Amino acid sequence: EIDSVNDKYLRPLQDLRISIMDKCNFRCSYCMPAEVFGEDYVFMREEELLSFDEIERLVRQFTTLGVKKIRLTGGEPLLRKNVPNLIKQLSSIDGIEDIALTTNGVHLVKQATALKEAGLMRVNVSLDALDTEIFQKMNGRKVSSSVVLKGIEAARAAGLEVKINMVVRKGVNEGEVVKLAKYCKEQNITLRFIEFMDVGQTNGWDFSQVVTKKELLEKVSTIAPIEAVERDYLGEVASRYRYKGTNTEIGIISSVSDTFCGNCTRARISADGKLYTCLFAEEGYDLRDFIRSGVSDNDIKKKVNGIWSNRTDKYSEERTEETVKNRKKIEMSYIGG
Ligand code: GTP
Ligand code: 5AD
Ligand code: SF4
Ligand code: SF4
Repeated sequence: EIDSVNDKYLRPLQDLRISIMDKCNFRCSYCMPAEVFGEDYVFMREEELLSFDEIERLVRQFTTLGVKKIRLTGGEPLLRKNVPNLIKQLSSIDGIEDIALTTNGVHLVKQATALKEAGLMRVNVSLDALDTEIFQKMNGRKVSSSVVLKGIEAARAAGLEVKINMVVRKGVNEGEVVKLAKYCKEQNITLRFIEFMDVGQTNGWDFSQVVTKKELLEKVSTIAPIEAVERDYLGEVASRYRYKGTNTEIGIISSVSDTFCGNCTRARISADGKLYTCLFAEEGYDLRDFIRSGVSDNDIKKKVNGIWSNRTDKYSEERTEETVKNRKKIEMSYIGG
């Protein structure tokens, strides 16, 4: 039985993004800059992470409140051991219609088939440049784009639906926008451009580094004419376009220049089991110690219901120079994108 819950602005709780690993094998400048996430950075200990059984238990309760969509994130989720086992557990839950994963793609060659067999439907793969030097500058490790492209190929061959995510940072990989778009058009892969966001405290964000939706659309239109595509569902993050006369789409995720908080139906759980009601939240609500203290399923449901009913987040709409500078935001690798 589903008791849907709305927040203060009548937004239902529908999607759950679960981070399963705070570590990552990349050091993207906009997410985990190597100067901050260095050799001696302290990541979560094994016992701090939610176990797969704990995640399953939480997801079961979230579905009773209306959650239908699950996305696994990180850090890099595929650094966690036995992810297919978790996918199997989650696939068995009534009410879950969509299970997806966001990854940097490096481990897909090895894992795509097992993930698909376990019930994973789709992956969003981050790729910020085709050019090796520029990509390495973005990912902070000496990984070349061919490694990620092979992962993408493996995922498609395994039957997973694949989209590419490209974070665009002015003066760094802006020149790759048209190149990657052409590549994706040829391959018929959906490419989504993401405006560089002021997540966390460490990525040195300022507005002058954002390439806006408008600028991105202008760049892509030089390849071929594009037209807007209707939204698939309320709360879709990307605004979608297609090249006229084709079914190849591009998307723009414009959390800075054209915000989408009004329809935000997403909750997030960090790898150590804190619930966040916004990507830019300052604080989370502990669920891990709560469920480890012997509470009932109904207690969990009541707690989450209470948190969501009181939700008033709409950070992107409220963003000002003051919030960019002074708000104590959680790091992306911790909260899970
Ligand atoms: P689909 O279900 O495939 O559309 O996935 P998605 O776009 O919701 O998830 P993905 O992990 O691929 O995220 C793409 C980008 O959108 C990332 O940069 C996320 O941080 C950003 N994003 C996702 N949800 C939100 C949100 O609620 N608010 C903001 N500001 N950004 C978000
Ligand atoms: N701004 C925009 N997107 C970001 N991502 C990580 N950090 C940022 C940021 N500061 C993207 C990653 C990945 C997705 C989960 O979030 O590239 O595609
Ligand atoms: Fe890792 Fe993704 Fe963050 Fe890059 S954006 S450091 S791949 S978690
Ligand atoms: Fe949702 Fe917060 Fe993103 Fe707005 S900024 S869309 S409220 S997660």
